[in-house]
Amino acid sequence: MRLEGKTAVITGGAGGIGRATAFLFAEHGANVVIGDADQEAGEKTAAAVREKGFSCLFIHTDAAKAEDIERLMNGAVSAYGGLHILFNNAGVSNQSVKLHDMEEMEWDRVVDINLKGVFLGMKYAVPHMKQSGGGSIINTSSVLGIKGKKRMAPYNASKAGVIALTKNAALDYGKDGIRVNAIAPGVIDTAIVDEWRNDERRWGIYTTSNALGRIGQPEEIAKAVLFLASDDASYVTAAALLADGGTITF
Ligand SMILES: NC(=O)c1ccc[n+]([C@@H]2O[C@H](COP(=O)([O-])OP(=O)(O)OC[C@H]3O[C@@H](n4cnc5c(N)ncnc54)[C@H](O)[C@@H]3O)[C@@H](O)[C@H]2O)c1
Repeated sequence: MRLEGKTAVITGGAGGIGRATAFLFAEHGANVVIGDADQEAGEKTAAAVREKGFSCLFIHTDAAKAEDIERLMNGAVSAYGGLHILFNNAGVSNQSVKLHDMEEMEWDRVVDINLKGVFLGMKYAVPHMKQSGGGSIINTSSVLGIKGKKRMAPYNASKAGVIALTKNAALDYGKDGIRVNAIAPGVIDTAIVDEWRNDERRWGIYTTSNALGRIGQPEEIAKAVLFLASDDASYVTAAALLADGGTITF
């Protein structure tokens, strides 16, 4: 029980990595509040966590909208009396085209969710965390926030931005007892990589081009996020923790 008595907000918690983290945080004693744009999946995940006897709430949230994020943080505090952990995890991939063919709207959509969403999450969580005596924020970047990939301009740029923003916030709020770190997963078996599954050749390359020779599971990222969220990481801040099976060195 590493998060006993803590309240944790998870954006993008309805599916994939966020969902696995919701279960793990709850198993470790946290009250979990899921904010996700997918109402049906969000309600289902929250109900599944509660069915295991844990405390979990769903609040419909578009991570790119300030009013939604503000409502999410306020909702968590009114339900549980404080806010200690934010997993800023909602994210989307982009349409696979080169930069000169990228529609401006597509750029804005991806950057708004992946990068502005992380800014908004921190902006509205930090005042509550200060009132709660400090906390831990984990922002989801990617191995693609460190290395490039063809036809992934807004994704690459937004995930690199998440790492820079993480360092900024760690410096701004360290003395308030708030640690801020990024998690940088490699290829993980979730819906976000579904578009690659039908192409056997690409799927084979993407899922095995790392030191371990296999795709990662959402539960493996959740465990790294739990470490960053917990007091075990009490001297870890401003870090970007790679959980990529060694993709970066491959
Ligand atoms: N799976 C991977 O290979 C991989 C690798 C590196 C980083 N990531 C990052 O991990 C995070 C989680 O992705 P995942 O792999 O679990 O994919 P996923 O598609 O399973 O989960 C993403 C979740 O975010 C939600 N979401 C999307 N847009 C939203 C919005 N505007 N507001 C609120 N919620 C929204 C979705 O409904 C979904 O529940 C993302 O930030 C993603 O970029 C994933």
